[in-house]
Amino acid sequence: MKKLYGVIGDPIGHSMSPDMHNDAFGALHMEAYYHPFHIKSEELKTAVAGMKAIGLSGFNVTVPHKTAIMPLLDEIDPLAEAIGAVNTVVRDENRFIGYNTDGEGFVRGLNEEYGSSVLDKKIMIIGAGGAARAIYYTLSQQGAERVDIANRTPAKAEELKSRCPYPVETALLSLEQAEEQLGDYDIIIQTTSIGMSPKVSETPIHVKNIRPDAFVSDIIYNPAETMIMKEAKKRGARVQNGLKMFAYQGALAFEKWTGILPDTERMQKIVQNKLGGTSC
Ligand code: ATR
Repeated sequence: MKKLYGVIGDPIGHSMSPDMHNDAFGALHMEAYYHPFHIKSEELKTAVAGMKAIGLSGFNVTVPHKTAIMPLLDEIDPLAEAIGAVNTVVRDENRFIGYNTDGEGFVRGLNEEYGSSVLDKKIMIIGAGGAARAIYYTLSQQGAERVDIANRTPAKAEELKSRCPYPVETALLSLEQAEEQLGDYDIIIQTTSIGMSPKVSETPIHVKNIRPDAFVSDIIYNPAETMIMKEAKKRGARVQNGLKMFAYQGALAFEKWTGILPDTERMQKIVQNKLGGTSC
């Protein structure tokens, strides 16, 4: 009998995870199927109980359930607990265990594109929302030396820093300070929604002070090249969009379910094709 996996969210119609995972199951000749489930918040508890009862082997969790699902699971991995969000649920016999592969997916994709580990580099994260938390805590957990946070609302950056359970050196910056001091950084990670389609001409900060040997990683993948990436490229910097992060968070979930890390290049191509074939 085929194993059943899925993703829950609201909305869920545009999720690219089913294409990515079903292609990977097919490529690996595995008897499994991944289905998108549209679950409203008021149905979340019933849905989790239902998924356990019908024997779902594992699932992904997306907006708006990543935090709300936590008390409904049997166990939460410590990193997911610290991040305060679960994007992957693994079934262990009759128990559901929650993980977060967003931060790890990002860091894997960043290391791969950068060409070496980024842990000893001077890193700036722009933004202090959920995505920033996953990335900041994962970098800290992995032993990053210096990760500064630039955010519009200082209190949110302060909260992110003060709740981080792993040791890391961090200075907090306003967006203006981030612009001024940009030349001090090797790696700039853009985690806000600024620049995302349809507002493609916006940037969270101006990059006139960026170094030509710097690297900008934007977690946005639609458009494939955001304005901050374009501006950074003009000044000689290397850039990457969020496609690798998306593929890797999915690949790491797949690995947790099956023990096999699927072909992430292939996963990226699936998403790219679905987005209209733009190259990145
Ligand atoms: P996510 O969970 O996707 O990371 P989020 O939690 O809503 O989203 O976080 C969005 C981040 O983008 C925040 O850091 C937010 O800044 P504030 O903390 O000041 O709200 C940042 N952000 C969103 N729109 C912004 C804008 N127009 N200018 C500056 N920062 C913005």
